[in-house]
Amino acid sequence: MHEPLLTDGFGRHFPYLRLSITDVCNFRCSYCLPNGYHQTGREDFLTIHEIQRLVRAFTGLGVWKFRLTGGEPTIRPDFLDIVSAVAEVPGVRKLAFTTNGYKLRDRANSYYNAGLRAVNVSIDSLDPHQFARITGHERLPEILEGIDLCLKIGFHPVKINTVLLKNLNDAELDTFIQFVADKPISLRFIELMRTGENKTYFDQHHLPGHYIVERLLAGGWCLQERSGGAGPAQEFGHPQSLGTIGLIAPYSKDFCQTCNRLRISAKGALHLCLFGEGGYSLRHLLQADDQLEKLQQQILDLLQYKKSSHFLHQGITGITPHLASIGG
Ligand code: 5AD
Ligand code: SF4
Repeated sequence: MHEPLLTDGFGRHFPYLRLSITDVCNFRCSYCLPNGYHQTGREDFLTIHEIQRLVRAFTGLGVWKFRLTGGEPTIRPDFLDIVSAVAEVPGVRKLAFTTNGYKLRDRANSYYNAGLRAVNVSIDSLDPHQFARITGHERLPEILEGIDLCLKIGFHPVKINTVLLKNLNDAELDTFIQFVADKPISLRFIELMRTGENKTYFDQHHLPGHYIVERLLAGGWCLQERSGGAGPAQEFGHPQSLGTIGLIAPYSKDFCQTCNRLRISAKGALHLCLFGEGGYSLRHLLQADDQLEKLQQQILDLLQYKKSSHFLHQGITGITPHLASIGG
């Protein structure tokens, strides 16, 4: 194995790219888009050709895992074509997507056939009423059917993202634990992140991640060894559970040390961190196939600006207005 090409000034490697393909979302998650998505400016999201050029450039730099995200990525009418275009690039070894589960039940098969192999579904409550209150949609039962179908089809891994919300879902920990007991699902609690637009909400509903860790340890769950290529999540297992429970706690000390991902916004800006940076547009280098080398050099140069930490614990939120604009 040769030294990975994408290495930052702190010795971190980046095998993983999160690629947002749209800012648009049809849900109204109360911490993200409480009033629904509103168009700001022109919706000139990356074209399928621009996306494919980006993926070629990153695979050439050693990136092998790609996640399509949004907004809600599956909302794009050309979503399946994008998936096929990315999947066919040599060097793409794992193609994942993050979805709110909308239409998953009806479309999981076509997603798999187009080349997707791993899925993250966002579910913030297993109580249908509470789910509807948080997301604005009464779709929990069909989303759960979609997840079962993904398991049956062979998506691996199947993950669930659950934003930890004080007074909204923190009482459901046992329900979530029971839910994964007989399913090979990795459920991750995500500590609520403060964005530019959710300060009041954050103050009301933020719960530190150690709340989950203490309850898990008390219930006999054990922290598992990190596997190679693992990102900043801590994963817990239990002898009686097929599924695992994880925690993504961005405010914890040392979170950023295991950062292994870069992000591209739906309009082609490279974000070195989820927070803090405005993003560096790469779009002018995505216009023709023969720009590949220039594009790669630009990515390598920009990576040297990546900082050691997001400094969120100091109340810095960056300018990310909400995560639908940069893909969680
Ligand atoms: N804090 C934590 N997680 C968030 N997500 C969106 N906004 C926030 C926030 N402010 C999550 C979604 C989804 C993932 C892509 O990001 O719930 O699971
Ligand atoms: Fe949409 Fe995801 Fe934001 Fe919910 S969290 S509104 S599903 S982009």
